[in-house]
Amino acid sequence: MGEKGHVEVKKVLHLGSLNNVMMMVFGKCYDFLNGDGVILEELVNEGYELLGVFNWNDHFPLLGWVDLQGVRRRCRCLVSKVNAFVGKIIVDHRMKRVSGGYVASETVGDFVDVLLDLEKENRLSDADMIAVLWEMIFRGTDTVAILLEWVLARMVLHPEMQTKAQCEIDEVVGSRPVSNNDIPNLPYLQCIVKEILRVHPPGPLLSWARLAIGDVCIGDKLIPAGTTAMVNMWAITHNANVWSEPDVFKPERFMEMERDMNIMGCDLRLAPFGAGRRVCPGKSMGLATVHLWFAQLLQGFQWFPCDEKPVDLSECLKLSMEMKSPLICKVVPRVVA
Ligand code: HEM
Repeated sequence: MGEKGHVEVKKVLHLGSLNNVMMMVFGKCYDFLNGDGVILEELVNEGYELLGVFNWNDHFPLLGWVDLQGVRRRCRCLVSKVNAFVGKIIVDHRMKRVSGGYVASETVGDFVDVLLDLEKENRLSDADMIAVLWEMIFRGTDTVAILLEWVLARMVLHPEMQTKAQCEIDEVVGSRPVSNNDIPNLPYLQCIVKEILRVHPPGPLLSWARLAIGDVCIGDKLIPAGTTAMVNMWAITHNANVWSEPDVFKPERFMEMERDMNIMGCDLRLAPFGAGRRVCPGKSMGLATVHLWFAQLLQGFQWFPCDEKPVDLSECLKLSMEMKSPLICKVVPRVVA
């Protein structure tokens, strides 16, 4: 802000979120300008790019052996790099145990430690561990960053809501830094996050595709075994038969009618983390992170539009549903009396 007179939040949120996940998963923060941090950022970006590529081979299996766009070659190359990167971290964790640097009953470990403790009973192979760890990094990073970008865009567009949420924080928290324990006492802030998850769900098609493994009846429709189905959560959350004024951004709706609505997968009118066996395993962590960071960003700063780059709410569906034009805004520190 000091240098340019405006801030593009996307990159900052992405790197912050990546380090948040890395800290929980590998117990380590990275410097994204040097060394391993640069490699990690390259691996994550290559993964997102490959998942977003339109691959002709998916639609014309006969082309299978040709690999026209080189997608398979790039995937193979990425897999071997991820195996080397994550494999080394697992080896480092094992060495620490051998040298007495980690004692399961005494040390607060990270997610790799949790998996290594499991190993004795369930004998997770290294390949399984690498897959689980990479999935956590991959699914946990952008969802949080993208959701926060939508939250901030809405705050810039609706200054009266921004002020209302800031007053709530000031009343409940005062001048000390807001913490995790304050979140249950900030109902309006939670309503804003719920309304963002309704209007701009980062995973609008949940996990993209599901396969019916047996015949299923939904209402009066038969879904035969072998059918590939997609759950369009975006369509449900924008359906006028389900939601009143679905296109209006109105956090207050959750203060009134839907005060206790559970968004963790029990109520299919709003299930932004999916539901059932494949529900998002990071939902509690993701929601806790978004609530806390949003509260901190509102407590510490005032968010304004940038005259040259007005907020554009157009959507772009990649692995997650992102803002088509990244948010650019002005940010001024707040002083709380
Ligand atoms: C606010 C942030 C997040 C949102 C909106 C979100 C949303 C989702 C959605 C919609 C799915 C598909 C569920 C389904 O098909 O039923 C999913 C899956 C998944 N999420 Fe999240 N997620 C978030 C944060 C996280 C975090 C922080 C992690 C891990 C640290 C994570 C890890 C995963 C994994 C591993 C899967 C795949 C589960 C499977 O295929 O069985 N997510 N997430």
